Amino acid sequence: MGSIARRPLMVANWKMHGTFFEAMQWVQALSYQLDPADYDRVDVGVAPSFTSLRSVQTVIQMDDLPIHIVAQNVHWANKGAYTGEVSARMLAKLAVSYVIVGHSERRRDFGEDDRMVNRKARAALSEGVTPIVAVGETLEQREGGRAEQTVGRQVSGSLARMPSDQVGRLVVAYEPVWAIGTGRHARPAVAQEMISYIRSRIRSKHGDAADQVRIIYGGSINPGNVAALMAKRDIDGGLIGGASLDPGTLAACVRYWT
Ligand code: PGA
Repeated sequence: MGSIARRPLMVANWKMHGTFFEAMQWVQALSYQLDPADYDRVDVGVAPSFTSLRSVQTVIQMDDLPIHIVAQNVHWANKGAYTGEVSARMLAKLAVSYVIVGHSERRRDFGEDDRMVNRKARAALSEGVTPIVAVGETLEQREGGRAEQTVGRQVSGSLARMPSDQVGRLVVAYEPVWAIGTGRHARPAVAQEMISYIRSRIRSKHGDAADQVRIIYGGSINPGNVAALMAKRDIDGGLIGGASLDPGTLAACVRYWT
């Protein structure tokens, strides 16, 4: 159990910040601060808005940067009459390697439920794009003693009808809603406890795939708390929002061991 070394993954979630021009500058500024040795240790990803994906891809290709392109959302259908939506096939053609599905802001503001998240995740997988499936409880659910129950249900629903070999390739992001954008991160022991619970839940259905799936933490990560979070046995990386908007701060989070 736990014998497989999982590669850490650090992803900048830029949300609805930055024009394409700023996103290009941020990627370049990040790359100036990272060395080949950093990329050897961790997978680094940036999630710009849809309008910036193409420009970010150009910078990454031109400068031959080992930075992964991450999208913030995807539609479940391959194509069709879905005005305003973007398909996994469109993302794959832009060399997008990961896509965040089910972020709590989308669950809260755009009515995404586990069934939609599941369809999105499976659409991404079918195009070779790795879903980062976001789950997490609200403060009310935690204070009501329903944190595990809530997250457990989100995990089961979001990963439904996925074969175990696909589950092993996934990323799950545990992002307690009360920690997102609040400056109040989960204590490392609290994050570890929930992430270990998520892994055990995946193990009960998918066996050894639970040792491969990367489960990352998100919620008010900053250079001051990142090392303690990443030191926990089951925490395989981070999804970084506010602190990722400054390339220097983002680089400090990515190089959490220094
Ligand atoms: P935060 O956002 O780091 O600003 O809390 C994290 C996220 O929402 O992914």
